Amino acid sequence: MKEALEDLRRKADGEIDSAKTGGEFLDIKTRYLGRKGLLTDLLRGLKDAAPEDKPLLGKLSNDIKKSLLEKIERALEDIESGDRDKALREARIDVTLPGRGLRYGKVHPVTRVEGEICDIFATLGFSVVEGPEVELTYYNFEALNIPEDHPARDIHDTFYVTDNIVLRTHTSPVQIRTMEQQPPPVRILSPGKVYRPDSDISHTPMFHQVEGLLVDKGITFGDLKGVLTFFLRQMFGSGTQLRFRPSFFPFTEPSAEVDIQCVMCKGSGCRVCGQSGWIEILGSGMVDPEVFKTVHYDTEEISGFAFGLGVERIAMLKYGISDIRLFFENDRRFLEQF
Ligand code: FA5
Ligand code: MG
Repeated sequence: MKEALEDLRRKADGEIDSAKTGGEFLDIKTRYLGRKGLLTDLLRGLKDAAPEDKPLLGKLSNDIKKSLLEKIERALEDIESGDRDKALREARIDVTLPGRGLRYGKVHPVTRVEGEICDIFATLGFSVVEGPEVELTYYNFEALNIPEDHPARDIHDTFYVTDNIVLRTHTSPVQIRTMEQQPPPVRILSPGKVYRPDSDISHTPMFHQVEGLLVDKGITFGDLKGVLTFFLRQMFGSGTQLRFRPSFFPFTEPSAEVDIQCVMCKGSGCRVCGQSGWIEILGSGMVDPEVFKTVHYDTEEISGFAFGLGVERIAMLKYGISDIRLFFENDRRFLEQF
């Protein structure tokens, strides 16, 4: 029996030496050491051996079993770690390859122009305040001296939320909210979104305005003209052609709208300016005493002017953009130019 055991060990060792794959090793393991394996088979004969030989044979077969198992396990481990090395080698990152390059986002042209407007007025001491986009009709209309029957209150010009709540149609309600909160003097700028059911090449249902309000002792229409002219020269350059055109707003008296010569046609008339050669960019005027009364300002003591700029219109003129709707289509080829 001893010879049979030694024989088996030699045979198994030989097979282990020539085996290569994990499958082959596992096969050797079951064939020799499995429940119906060759070694197990041999050991069944142990009970017929001479009693004095039994301890030695038992030890020998245990040794064989142990050494075979060890060799097979080690071989399997080697194969596994070899596989792992190979996988790691293949997955290695080549740090010398050129990168893919980041695409930077850009500030939206409307946001950029809004920032430029605020920066210019900041040099004149205007500070920025904000107001709600969903607004009470009181602030959007009544407090601004726009009575119930004013055409601006027509359902076609205003998005109503409820009977007394609207999407603000202009930034002027911030004037009222500010004057309710603080006594004169006031020098504020209020940028933000406004909404009107309008859409063509120079109108969109949502657009941006910047409201300005200056109230102090002895403010005149000359101050209004000076401040707005200064702003427009800063924005568009000193050679800019502009005109103050008499207009009407219920909350200012007198009132003026300011037009800038159309940059698209240099004033000769085109599709963008409606053949007029001019593009309207703001409304303005001296604050109506009715408005001051509403916020309990003393009209004997103070006076002031206000204005509302159309931010998209200014951006169109500044960058020569012929259709206002381009700002809101989010075409990256358009937006990446700025
Ligand atoms: C007003 O909204 C007044 N609140 C402005 C004002 C403020 C006057 C303070 C007096 C004192 P108006 O409706 O004209 O005025 O709009 C002001 C500017 O917003 C226009 O000059 C124009 O540049 C721009 N604008 C008006 N409607 C649109 C629109 N649908 N899309 C884009 N821009 C517009
Ligand atoms: Mg207007």
